[in-house]
Amino acid sequence: MTKSYEAGLPGRRRRALFGALTLAIAGIAAPAGAQDGATITATIRADQPGPKVDADIFGQFAEHLGTGIYGGIWVGKGSSIPNENGYRSDVLAALKAIKVPMVRWPGGCFADEYHWRDGIGPQKDRPVKINTNWGGVNEDNSFGTHEFMGFAERLSARAYVSANVGSGTPAETARWVEYMTAAANSSSLARERAANGRTEPWTLAYLGIGNELWGCGGNMRPEYAADLTNRFATFAKSGSGKMLKIASGPSDSNYEWTDTMMRLSGKTIDGLALHFYTRPRDADWNDKGPALGFPEAEWASTLQHTLQMDEFITRHSAIMDKYDPEKRVMLAVDEWGTWYDPTPGSNPGFLQQQNSLRDAIVAALNIHIFTRHAERVRMAAIAQMVNVLQAMLLTDGPRMVKTPTYWAFDLYMPWQNATSLPVTVDGPRYRNGTVDIPAISVSAVRDTAGAVHVALVNVDPNRALPVTVDLKGVRATAASGRILTAEAMDAHNSFEHPGAVAPKPFDAARVAGGKLATRLPPKSVVVLRLR
Ligand code: AHR
Repeated sequence: MTKSYEAGLPGRRRRALFGALTLAIAGIAAPAGAQDGATITATIRADQPGPKVDADIFGQFAEHLGTGIYGGIWVGKGSSIPNENGYRSDVLAALKAIKVPMVRWPGGCFADEYHWRDGIGPQKDRPVKINTNWGGVNEDNSFGTHEFMGFAERLSARAYVSANVGSGTPAETARWVEYMTAAANSSSLARERAANGRTEPWTLAYLGIGNELWGCGGNMRPEYAADLTNRFATFAKSGSGKMLKIASGPSDSNYEWTDTMMRLSGKTIDGLALHFYTRPRDADWNDKGPALGFPEAEWASTLQHTLQMDEFITRHSAIMDKYDPEKRVMLAVDEWGTWYDPTPGSNPGFLQQQNSLRDAIVAALNIHIFTRHAERVRMAAIAQMVNVLQAMLLTDGPRMVKTPTYWAFDLYMPWQNATSLPVTVDGPRYRNGTVDIPAISVSAVRDTAGAVHVALVNVDPNRALPVTVDLKGVRATAASGRILTAEAMDAHNSFEHPGAVAPKPFDAARVAGGKLATRLPPKSVVVLRLR
């Protein structure tokens, strides 16, 4: 049985909470809590609605990497692990429950070495290759185009396929797109598709024109990458509706890349990808910090690092505005998330890591940032879906566990296709060593049915913080929702304890006189629906 967080508070703390709430509702700053002595005040302008939050910012990335596909999504039809046509049943059910809107495949670095013809036709005839990027393991191509498109269809998710620009040709990409999208019986490739089991075309929502062309995708200069992007984009033509072309974009603060790509390819593409990975120790890729058992200093540095996403988006968008003031071209953050040292004892090429409450907070903060930039950021993909980096799900043979990041995505489902509402926050900071960041982050949306949802994140791992939210343009008298928190900073779900971190009901918010008042427990994500 789940327990409401408020109901779980000891009597003395519960009385203190209600004292603070009463004062806050009366418009008086609550007493204790924030050491700075201040109630955090936020304002939501529901009377000044912002742009739509595209559901696709909740997209997920599934690469041929480690056990991300094989074992994680695909076990094959003959497997003893329960499956539907080869797809793990538990993974499908978990992903359907959070309404995954979009899946990006097959890479990543893998994409620029992938040849689509290796992954069609009878399984026994598919070539076995070496996955040179990720652990040097065999790739038997048993998960190919039909298997990926079938997976996306089962999830009712839009498909995002990344083409091989680095070691492929424009003709290879053009034929792949034709194979996937040409009308039934309209060409030899359409007939080949039918012979392989699929008569009707699929819809391809996004085509990636290579991946990280500045690095594993070919170590190119931006000028060369832009020329190639134009060439590949020119010949890739969908036969089944609008297919948005996403160029390989910058990483982190590579503003020169964005400027050059927008100047030379801004008219041929529909989106520019941004990749940014959050690391506790960001000075050295060989020493990123552990996923579990970290000190508070690394809780703090991780959250400070992830908040740089806001600056990167702001500055890349400003450059894009120079060439595209109408914001026709989206900034697609199609790889984001935490990257830690690999789980001890695992194959380092498999990028396996545990996922803790810290990851859920990282996810929530990034969702707030994407929501704030909804006009330009209309698609994103967390890296990655299963078993790799900041995974939503972890599997081990027949066992599966939902991570705290999964639960963060679950909490934010009302954000999908909702209208963003402008928010301002005025309150204390969370400080640790050299880290100095806002203690509270707030995001709000109005869903398509008209209900307003408010998300509040307290990044401080030690202090509960009183918050008052001024609700401009909202008529509400009550709020209820769920909280994601835990005692330890690195609390996580293991196969032995799969339910250690999961949302619980949260009833400790009051609404009166156009204000919402609550007290946020340390290191928590609270998502409320106003009524
Ligand atoms: O997500 C793992 C890798 O990170 C991807 O393959 C690549 O695009 C990025 O560098």
